[in-house]
Amino acid sequence: MSIVESEVGTLAEAWTKTDLLDLESLSAEEIRLILQTAENLKEATDGCSKKLDLLAGRTMANLFFEDSTRTKTSFSLAARRLGADTVDFSSSGSSLSKGETVIDTAKNIEAMGVDAVVLRHRTPGTPHLLAQNLDTSVLNAGDGPHEHPTQGLLDIMTIREQRGEINGLTVALVGDIAHSRTARSNIWGLKKLGAHVIACGPSTLVSRRWEELGVEVAYNLDEILPRCDVLNLLRIQFERQLMRPFPSVREYALLYAMNGERMARAKKDILIMAPGPINRGVEVTPEVADGPHSVILHQVTNGLAVRMAVLWLVIGAAERGLSKPR
Ligand code: CP
Repeated sequence: MSIVESEVGTLAEAWTKTDLLDLESLSAEEIRLILQTAENLKEATDGCSKKLDLLAGRTMANLFFEDSTRTKTSFSLAARRLGADTVDFSSSGSSLSKGETVIDTAKNIEAMGVDAVVLRHRTPGTPHLLAQNLDTSVLNAGDGPHEHPTQGLLDIMTIREQRGEINGLTVALVGDIAHSRTARSNIWGLKKLGAHVIACGPSTLVSRRWEELGVEVAYNLDEILPRCDVLNLLRIQFERQLMRPFPSVREYALLYAMNGERMARAKKDILIMAPGPINRGVEVTPEVADGPHSVILHQVTNGLAVRMAVLWLVIGAAERGLSKPR
């Protein structure tokens, strides 16, 4: 066993939660422990490319009731990189069409002997409901507009990797804050680690209520841009909107898209991030998304590291007999 693998084992012994449901309920120390574990696992797997056998003999089930490219694929790869077996469930073609409930579906998958269930569902709180009803570990892969904890963690890991420290940075979340689970998880995580967070977008998508959490609310990107160390450009989630929150996509892009002209007025070392998928030309132009300040694909790689870390930690806690708070 390498020194890095042995440190990963020590970190796991300090972790006590059998589920990962949100970042709101984690302490700053718990977030740092996950990030350190992810960084160690990234190193031990040679940049998330090689296999370890830390979770050999275990099985992870992906239960996705909403579409996904990055999260579903990287949870599967993360489990396999650690030697676990994986099984994918998708709602289309399942017995949900015969009236089976989500809880019954998950209990039946659990009865097949899985050690962790990764859940994405359009209804906020569904992962919390499953965690109360299952003995196996539950990991939230996005519950409607509520939280997407592993996305928040991989975003924070990417900033930490590039800047070394979160405390004191100014991070702007730009775009559709109202419908974004990524925004909520970023806000909880970044605030706990000492960042100044700005929520910026049209007033129809950014509520003043975020100020109650210590977030600065801004409606003019050009005014805040010179102060920002990091921009996380959030997708406009047309599929969650009952009506369009701005007159036209062109007008939104004129006011909020990160483009070459805005880059010229930003800090010289600004980081450009996006959780993906991106609407090219709406939140960010191709020259910026693919340009030298963009760390969008680093975020994707770090998604593997974070998901290896959280699977290792929660399954380890369950195997040490730690029980769920009911
Ligand atoms: N960022 C993210 O959650 O992407 P997917 O919807 O493709 O999983």
